[in-house]
Amino acid sequence: MGLEGKVAIVTGAGGGLGGAMALALASAGAKVAAVDVSLQGVNGLMQRAGSAQANIIPFIANLGERGDCEKLVGEVIAACGDLTMLVNNAGVGQQMIDPEYSTAQAKPFWETDIYGWEKIINVNMRAPVILTQKAVKHFITKGRGRVVNVTTSFDTMIAPKVWAYGQAKAGFEAVSASLAAQLANTPVTLNILVPGGPANTGLLPANTDLPRDKIIQPPVMGPPVVWLASDDADGFNNRRIVARLWDSTIPGKEAALKASAPCAWPGYGVQAAQPK
Ligand SMILES: NC(=O)c1ccc[n+]([C@@H]2O[C@H](COP(=O)([O-])OP(=O)(O)OC[C@H]3O[C@@H](n4cnc5c(N)ncnc54)[C@H](O)[C@@H]3O)[C@@H](O)[C@H]2O)c1
Repeated sequence: MGLEGKVAIVTGAGGGLGGAMALALASAGAKVAAVDVSLQGVNGLMQRAGSAQANIIPFIANLGERGDCEKLVGEVIAACGDLTMLVNNAGVGQQMIDPEYSTAQAKPFWETDIYGWEKIINVNMRAPVILTQKAVKHFITKGRGRVVNVTTSFDTMIAPKVWAYGQAKAGFEAVSASLAAQLANTPVTLNILVPGGPANTGLLPANTDLPRDKIIQPPVMGPPVVWLASDDADGFNNRRIVARLWDSTIPGKEAALKASAPCAWPGYGVQAAQPK
């Protein structure tokens, strides 16, 4: 899958899923702007990248800050000469407001710090909307572009223990479906990509009960994101791909259809009554 000439922003590239997607895109020939608030995370990615390192340009930005979000797309275009893909992957978990959330000492929501909740919303939901608006303006001018949003599993969105994280991800899922529908008759596509269950990354608490070697491993995100970046994915829009269901033995478009469904919940439950 030759991605020479493509330029992708991957946010949260210093972490598990973002690192795997950045490596996969850079190894396939794309130039990757690896964005993270953590210098240590981005340095670790550069060390792991081997020969793909030449295609990775680190950017340190705090996407919890509006100003950093507003500047990022312009800075990447200035440094890389273009932008063809935005992967909105950076995220923070429930531990931002309650380090013990997964233990018996978890705080009920009425005792948690409401401003910590705001930080989760800002990184997980506000930042990708700002970045998407900036990137889509550029994509429309250029006549092509991709947005890929990493939300989460539907059951996580309503899991009581991760109420703040879940809410931000449900909002992100919903806005992804709305924006993808708006992009339907443009040369720009927007799709969601999720691992399809808990994945072995820094987002899980250090004391997790989950067996880290048995859950989803970050490299599952590689084949679908590389296909989404390719010209073969032209016109593939408003779908939600579950990475663990990706079948690399069949052609990309077939694999994408097989592993995906429409974004969000368009066919779920009783719909609103509309006047005739
Ligand atoms: N791990 C899972 O089980 C799982 C499941 C479904 C979805 N996700 C989603 O996948 C995405 C990637 O998470 P991950 O699992 O790789 O976790 P991770 O903690 O390994 O990576 C997240 C990265 O985002 C970065 N980040 C956090 N705040 C930031 C900020 N303000 N500005 C810039 N970068 C920031 C972190 O430094 C980190 O490198 C997240 O959006 C997460 O919600 C994860």
